[in-house]
Amino acid sequence: MSTKLFDLSGRIALVTGASRGIGEATARLLAGQGAHVVIASRKQEELDKVAASIAAAGGQATAIAAHQGESAALKHLMGEISARFGRLDILVNNAATNPYFGHIADTDMGMVDKTLQVNIKGYFELSALASKLMKQGGGGAIVNIASINGVKPGTMQGIYSISKAAVINMTLAFAKECGPWKVRVNAVLPGLTDTKFASALTKNEQLLKGVLPQIPLGRMAQPAEIAPAVLYLCSDAASYVTGTTLTVDGGFLAGGI
Ligand SMILES: NC(=O)c1ccc[n+]([C@@H]2O[C@H](COP(=O)([O-])OP(=O)(O)OC[C@H]3O[C@@H](n4cnc5c(N)ncnc54)[C@H](OP(=O)(O)O)[C@@H]3O)[C@@H](O)[C@H]2O)c1
Repeated sequence: MSTKLFDLSGRIALVTGASRGIGEATARLLAGQGAHVVIASRKQEELDKVAASIAAAGGQATAIAAHQGESAALKHLMGEISARFGRLDILVNNAATNPYFGHIADTDMGMVDKTLQVNIKGYFELSALASKLMKQGGGGAIVNIASINGVKPGTMQGIYSISKAAVINMTLAFAKECGPWKVRVNAVLPGLTDTKFASALTKNEQLLKGVLPQIPLGRMAQPAEIAPAVLYLCSDAASYVTGTTLTVDGGFLAGGI
């Protein structure tokens, strides 16, 4: 086994939702470890800025816009990776949506469809396409960004929480059937993290006052504190790790004070 356990030189890594937040921090970290990162999200312009900044720091990045709720866009994304690089070593399924905040019984069915389409079907389709490409290349690693809400549903975030529980089960199901292809599949479960995604909570002083006492470390995470867990799971340091979840939540699931 290599002594450079976290070295990703020569690897091709796709990170979705990489124009900001946890995805951007992850793409920067993987590129810093030597991977050529393919970064995806809906807006090409935002991706181009991140790619340029990674290149300016000495890394390699390719930006390809793709809407995770559109099957044709995901097939195009994976087709581009296959055509340009001929392989894929790492997939970080990270882009997700959380369009509804309110009582579960009032959830609009359009919101249900959108959440399941992006958060479950998008992860599933990319996992299916990626695992086959990884198999051709002799193996690979998939890391799904789920959430603590997949274990303990967030208040007023019912359908989102349900989608994240599905991502945890998806992780186990793909790990089981793709293990023989040398494709490892794991999940990271972030707790409250300071991003645009969580701004409805993090920018609301009242709500935050109620949440922070439930986190033993007493604060939310920064995106750069979630990325190292992803690096571990997609690196050779985790060569015998598949079908597991790694919680990075400041102790939230352990129980509040
Ligand atoms: N922040 C938290 O507290 C927290 C906690 C637990 C889990 N998570 C999970 O962490 C992951 C990243 O969230 P984040 O907090 O980093 O959010 P963020 O900063 O808002 O970033 C979300 C990223 O996903 C992209 N995206 C959104 N919808 C998309 C779609 N339909 N198709 C393609 N790309 C899309 C966004 O770019 P465009 O808008 O340009 O497409 C952006 O790059 C998500 O899976 C989320 O569920 C977050």
